[in-house]
Amino acid sequence: MGGGTGAFPVGLCRRHPHLGATVLDLPHITEMTREKVAALGLTGKINTHDGDFLSDEPLPSGYDVILLSMILHDWDEATGRRLLEKCHAALPDGGAVIICELVLDDDETGPAPAALMGLNMVVETRSGHNYTHGEYRRWLADAGFTDISVAPLDAAGANAALIARRTSASERSPG
Ligand SMILES: C[S@@+](CC[C@H](N)C(=O)[O-])C[C@H]1O[C@@H](n2cnc3c(N)ncnc32)[C@H](O)[C@@H]1O
Repeated sequence: MGGGTGAFPVGLCRRHPHLGATVLDLPHITEMTREKVAALGLTGKINTHDGDFLSDEPLPSGYDVILLSMILHDWDEATGRRLLEKCHAALPDGGAVIICELVLDDDETGPAPAALMGLNMVVETRSGHNYTHGEYRRWLADAGFTDISVAPLDAAGANAALIARRTSASERSPG
């Protein structure tokens, strides 16, 4: 979701050839995505969906995983929570959402790259900033996701992937 010109899907589909992906982004972006994907010989493997994740209701369904890479920090908390609810509604039981970003420690003092990216978001966006692990865990749980886990990353744009599943009603414990 908001997959831009497809760097993540290209990397993922090359590394794991059984995967296919669709990049949902605004039409002026997906035009570039299609060009890039075609130039890499991945047309058909990586598709595009012209859409607006803020206003499209519901989001397209039929996908096992929704990747939110550097999306939520662009927006305020209410919008981020709404996007996660829309992802939950679009996923099948057993499906997963992945938040991949520079996530702040819960005491909000670091790590430095996440704090600096947060400052960048404050300057560049109307209401975005970087969020903590605790905040994302709460948003995910409130949206109905379970089995939340964290895969640490060491990349310029991401220090963690938070992975959460949509569980079926029968899997949910009665209390
Ligand atoms: C910071 S970029 C992240 C790109 C990509 N996910 C990555 O990690 O490299 C944010 C992306 O969200 C897209 N975007 C912003 N608003 C959107 C909207 N309302 N609907 C769909 N895509 C949107 C932008 O066009 C851009 O590609």
